[in-house]
Amino acid sequence: MTTPSLPMVVRAENLPAQVRIHEVGPRDGLQNEKSLVPTEVKAEFIHRLAEAGLTTIEATSFVHPKWVPQLADAETLFPALQDLENTDLPVLVPNERGLTRALALGASRMAVFASATESFAKANLNRTVAESLDMFDPVVTRAKEHGAHIRGYLSMCFGDPWEGAVPVPQVVSTAKALIDMGCDELSLGDTIGVATPAHVTALLTALNEAGVGTHRIGVHFHDTYGQALSNTLAALQHGVSTVDASAGGLGGCPYAKSATGNLATEDLVWMLRGLGVETGVDLGRLTATSAWMAEQLGRPSPSRTVRALTHQEQ
Ligand code: HMG
Ligand code: MG
Repeated sequence: MTTPSLPMVVRAENLPAQVRIHEVGPRDGLQNEKSLVPTEVKAEFIHRLAEAGLTTIEATSFVHPKWVPQLADAETLFPALQDLENTDLPVLVPNERGLTRALALGASRMAVFASATESFAKANLNRTVAESLDMFDPVVTRAKEHGAHIRGYLSMCFGDPWEGAVPVPQVVSTAKALIDMGCDELSLGDTIGVATPAHVTALLTALNEAGVGTHRIGVHFHDTYGQALSNTLAALQHGVSTVDASAGGLGGCPYAKSATGNLATEDLVWMLRGLGVETGVDLGRLTATSAWMAEQLGRPSPSRTVRALTHQEQ
């Protein structure tokens, strides 16, 4: 018996022709690892992801090193990626201090990260939602003065481990604030993976009604309840063409206990390939990279596609 290495292509007409994958493995994936991953391993991981055809790879965060020790090597890692001329390498910057660090190294794509709920704003940023927006405002202004592209993450868009279900209007209000502040792009985070497809459609519709166009929206699903792919399909059917994913399904969030890994990039590429949607990603090279990274981390990849393609037990 042979395991298929690619799905049969059956085109779907109502989907974007192309999807830009925003790869978050090196940041969202590695920020949650218990053992410190050496900088050289991270640099090799990012180079291999670029060789597999990923063109947007979130490299690291310029946050407080005590808050996220795993990414404390940002100053050493980022310069080791400078040969990747054709790859966008966004980085997270929570405040002016983070922006100054990123600009000093020549970063040109940054992301601020807000929360739709007060509990997560406090846990992740030590601020209320309003205080965190006040913190981001000068960051966005100064980054744009430097010609940078700014993404605004919004976490807990569907549910929050402390507050439960999050009302759609509450999400829309902070999303609007990020766009009005000058963010070029919004990424809707299902930080703890509780969204279901019609909830995704309802939020996207409400954002459109509030004036936030679908072309500015990306989706960021964690796969805690196995819903990340179905939620992605709902977003694609709504016209979204930027999807965040993490190679091998690495990930989580150190400040939200119930967050598990992101949607695995391989699982996403498998589905998009079958649907006839272009990603530019070589699935074989990507899978080999995640299998290599799993060896570095000493545990198997949680991605079903990686396991199937590398003939591991499911
Ligand atoms: P704070 O403790 O309130 O900081 O943390 P502060 O502003 O009071 O400053 C205290 C000290 O930290 C000062 O030093 C600052 O200079 C220093 P001192 O004067 O005491 O010597 N400091 C910094 N040092 C280096 N780099 C910086 C920096 N900022 C301040 N950037 C802070 C506030 C925002 C810094 C902190 O809460 C923090 O770093 N949080 C980051 C948390 C994080 O990275 N979480 C994970 C990313 S979010 C996520 O994963 C969700 C996402 O994937 C989407 C989804 O799934 O939903 C994006
Ligand atoms: Mg995340």
